[in-house]
Amino acid sequence: MENPITRICSHQLWFAILISFLLCTILLCFDSLSTNINGVTFSVNKQQNPFVIMKNMTSSDDAHSSCAGRYIYVHDLPTRFNHDLLHNCQLLTRGTDKPNMCPYMENQGLGPEIESSHGVLTNGSWYSTNQFLLEVIFHHRMKNYKCLTNDSSLASAIFVPFYAGLDVSRFLWDSNLTVRDSSGLDLVQWLARKPEWKKMWGRDHFLVSGRISWDFRRQYDDDINGSSWGSKFRFLPESMNMSMLAVEASSWNNDYAIPYPTSFHPSKDSEILQWQNKIRLQNRPYLFTFTGAPRPELENSIRGKIIEHCRSSSACRFIDCSNIDGEKCDNPINVIKVFEKSVFCLQPPGDSYTRRSIFDSMLAGCVPVFFHPGTAYSQYLWFLPRNRTKYSVYIPVRDVKDWDVNVERVLMGFSEDEVSALREEVIKLIPRIIYADPRFKLEKHEDAFDFAVKGMLERIEQVREVIRNGGDPSVGFADENHYKYTFSDN
Ligand SMILES: *[C@@H]1O[C@H](CO)[C@@H](O)[C@H](O)[C@H]1NC(C)=O
Ligand SMILES: *[C@@H]1O[C@H](CO)[C@@H](O)[C@H](O)[C@H]1NC(C)=O
Ligand SMILES: *[C@@H]1O[C@H](CO)[C@@H](O)[C@H](O)[C@H]1NC(C)=O
Ligand SMILES: *[C@@H]1O[C@H](CO)[C@@H](O)[C@H](O)[C@H]1NC(C)=O
Ligand SMILES: *[C@@H]1O[C@H](CO)[C@@H](O)[C@H](O)[C@H]1NC(C)=O
Ligand SMILES: *[C@@H]1O[C@H](CO)[C@@H](O)[C@H](O)[C@H]1NC(C)=O
Ligand SMILES: *[C@@H]1O[C@H](CO)[C@@H](O)[C@H](O)[C@H]1NC(C)=O
Repeated sequence: MENPITRICSHQLWFAILISFLLCTILLCFDSLSTNINGVTFSVNKQQNPFVIMKNMTSSDDAHSSCAGRYIYVHDLPTRFNHDLLHNCQLLTRGTDKPNMCPYMENQGLGPEIESSHGVLTNGSWYSTNQFLLEVIFHHRMKNYKCLTNDSSLASAIFVPFYAGLDVSRFLWDSNLTVRDSSGLDLVQWLARKPEWKKMWGRDHFLVSGRISWDFRRQYDDDINGSSWGSKFRFLPESMNMSMLAVEASSWNNDYAIPYPTSFHPSKDSEILQWQNKIRLQNRPYLFTFTGAPRPELENSIRGKIIEHCRSSSACRFIDCSNIDGEKCDNPINVIKVFEKSVFCLQPPGDSYTRRSIFDSMLAGCVPVFFHPGTAYSQYLWFLPRNRTKYSVYIPVRDVKDWDVNVERVLMGFSEDEVSALREEVIKLIPRIIYADPRFKLEKHEDAFDFAVKGMLERIEQVREVIRNGGDPSVGFADENHYKYTFSDN
């Protein structure tokens, strides 16, 4: 008598043998079989054991097959490059007149939750977020990235969780340049010793900064030229082979701009819809708004003109963020309250080309008005539509000497329908320009992190393609590329 269990087993065994046989036949029928894993094409031919490739293919979880070409390996850096900086947060405040940084570390870098806002914000998705903590938020988002791998040979990109901006902020006001440059140097030496480095000489490595790229590109080391701001980190040979995502990119082609963090960090898709619906219905009594501090020391800045114009126009609301009142603008409730009530928000360049306020205002459904292409159009290429007339107003004024525009008249020229279309486009962009709460996962929306990772993976794949075709990967990589950031008006 045959035991039924043995019979089932033997049926399954035969079935397995049959399948294996068929697979072998299929594989051996072809002279060569190619497969593309993470953008690298592997070929197997008759002489090789076809199971070698089977094994490699099944080593990645089936549920993650959509991860092909998207695997990221995260370097396990010594804690002095990231965690220790948070632990010793009191050192991050030194030399600045900024408030104590320590409270902003809470909630994985989102900062303290905003509990009550008297109806200005929606419940449960808002935090007092400090821009410099973007490095921490991004790192935490990366820890939950769907396609992480511990096998660096599978990875399409290598993430370096160095808190570059927090690190350099300890020494930006220190005149000893050796000290200012030391941790960047330490980091690249650590990276270059790792086996992952040699695969592409760092061209698949990327990192994130909550400070502008220029803070890592000190131009001169002498007092004659006067410009000694920042570290030399991005001019180190290893660093030039890596890509950096920063809130503002430089004109070098290995820097990419990603949005500044706002205070809105939804944990669910419904929180995004709820917010979009709220601001869509908002009553907007002010035609335009400017929020910022006067900068009398920046003589060429058009800020002074804008403030003057705003003060003299009954259609404009001006929020003065100068030192006396500075705290007002650090509080997201005060800032969003005004943006929610404004149709247009003026965004002249600040101390640098970009400002966090661009994203705070768009988040509130306020249509941005730009004066310089470097403020957004040539920066956030992965996040904002190419066609700028769809979501913004452009009033080109390069220099204060050219100031002869009547902003109010220009903005009055838009019909109600045109304004609604612009605003609707801005509201649609919201998910792309915000960072979701790293402790949760959105199901339907892709946020700024998702778009940043996608852009980075595509960029690295382009470099890989150049290498595959025998080209020189340094061409157009670490150059100062005058094409990308010509700041042209077209
Ligand atoms: C497949 O895995 C083997 C051993 O695990 C390795 O030697 C080989 O290089 C891998 N092949 C590919 C195409 O990744
Ligand atoms: C938001 O929270 C406040 C106070 O906790 C509560 O009074 C209010 O009803 C909440 N609003 C909504 C829409 O849930
Ligand atoms: C990588 O290894 C660490 C430590 O062994 C483990 O906690 C983590 O889950 C692994 N990650 C993946 C994506 O396999
Ligand atoms: C800068 O700091 C380093 C390390 O602390 C020290 O060795 C060096 O003498 C300092 N240089 C100057 C110019 O003070
Ligand atoms: C100072 O600036 C000039 C012109 O920008 C440059 O040619 C020169 O090399 C700089 N000096 C130093 C020591 O970097
Ligand atoms: C940078 O990349 C190039 C290849 O494009 C390589 O020759 C060079 O050695 C790399 N630099 C460093 C410091 O690894
Ligand atoms: C850009 O958008 C505007 C407004 O939606 C539209 O009228 C125009 O045709 C678009 N231009 C291009 C080149 O798509």
